[in-house]
Amino acid sequence: MTKHQTVDLDWENLGFEYMDLPYRYRAFWKDGAWHKAGLTEDSTVAMNEGSPVLHYGQAAFEGLKAYRCKDGSVNLFRPDQNAKRLQNSCKRLLMPEVPEEMFVDALKQVVKANEAYVPPYGTGATLYLRPYIIGVGENIGVHPASEYIFSVFAMPVGSYFKGGMVPTNFVASDYDRAAHKGTGASKVGGNYAASLYPGEKAHKAGFSDAIYLDPVEHRKIEEVGSANFFGITKDGKFVTPKSPSILPSVTKYSLLYLAKERFGMEAVEGDVYVDELDNFAEAGACGTAAVISPIGGFQVGDDFHVFYSTTEVGPVTKKLYDELVGIQFGDRPAPEGWIVKA
Ligand code: PLP
Ligand code: COI
Repeated sequence: MTKHQTVDLDWENLGFEYMDLPYRYRAFWKDGAWHKAGLTEDSTVAMNEGSPVLHYGQAAFEGLKAYRCKDGSVNLFRPDQNAKRLQNSCKRLLMPEVPEEMFVDALKQVVKANEAYVPPYGTGATLYLRPYIIGVGENIGVHPASEYIFSVFAMPVGSYFKGGMVPTNFVASDYDRAAHKGTGASKVGGNYAASLYPGEKAHKAGFSDAIYLDPVEHRKIEEVGSANFFGITKDGKFVTPKSPSILPSVTKYSLLYLAKERFGMEAVEGDVYVDELDNFAEAGACGTAAVISPIGGFQVGDDFHVFYSTTEVGPVTKKLYDELVGIQFGDRPAPEGWIVKA
């Protein structure tokens, strides 16, 4: 049994808000190598005014969580996948890649240094980890930076969408967040800047978030601004959109695997047409922050489509949620390599 003490927070009622924890990891890249890697108490980042991140958005990030288990130990969920995705984002924006070992070591250091903020088992809360890499240093033309900062900070979080595992409503956006040959499949800052305006419009209209449609014809679901989309068809298939402009979600690939291997469902990545939503019995948003958030209603133009119910969670969504979260908190057996102890 790992001994741990936690700070006094209202763990059951945490939202998804920034908190300035005691420690974060930071490393600096210059002249072809990473230097000065380690923990710091400084939550501010100083940089030159010409830094490419400030003007040209040369920035990529990740999001994953640390889970307190019943025995007091702490789980990381598939951190190798986040390391690889960050490397892909770095390639796309001409940034130096963070080696997987350095990435996972940074996560572990941040979890250990802030261990008192890892929420207690049974509260449903988790420690959210936010790795990022930015291009810094003297610059003015549109060029990749000559220096980079890689950092990981953390904060305890509860649910991302209001209420967590309760259905909320989403709206199809008239805007695109990414183009097919753009940066949608990379986790880069510009995609999120592009989603702020449509996201705000959706929130002001009373929806949890916008769902983006394919940027070519606006006929197929792409993803939510902060999560992937999945649906359960009336004949029991797990379906999630396939597109070059959506983020390859670790949660989505985990659910595809669990649906197939644990529940014997047909699990496919394919087209989800907005005029064929009647094929679906249930739908949800999935991601690290969102976990599985059931989609109650979906507004597409004048049509408000209800999947399962605007108040109740569908049975397959619930079954997948219990399996995923059970694995993350160490209560259910994990497929090989999915859990790394922090
Ligand atoms: N799609 C977008 C746009 C996201 O920001 C996220 C969050 O990371 C996801 C999907 C879900 O990805 P993951 O399951 O890897 O957290
Ligand atoms: C995540 O789920 O980790 C995300 O990055 C989603 C959002 C907070 C941007």
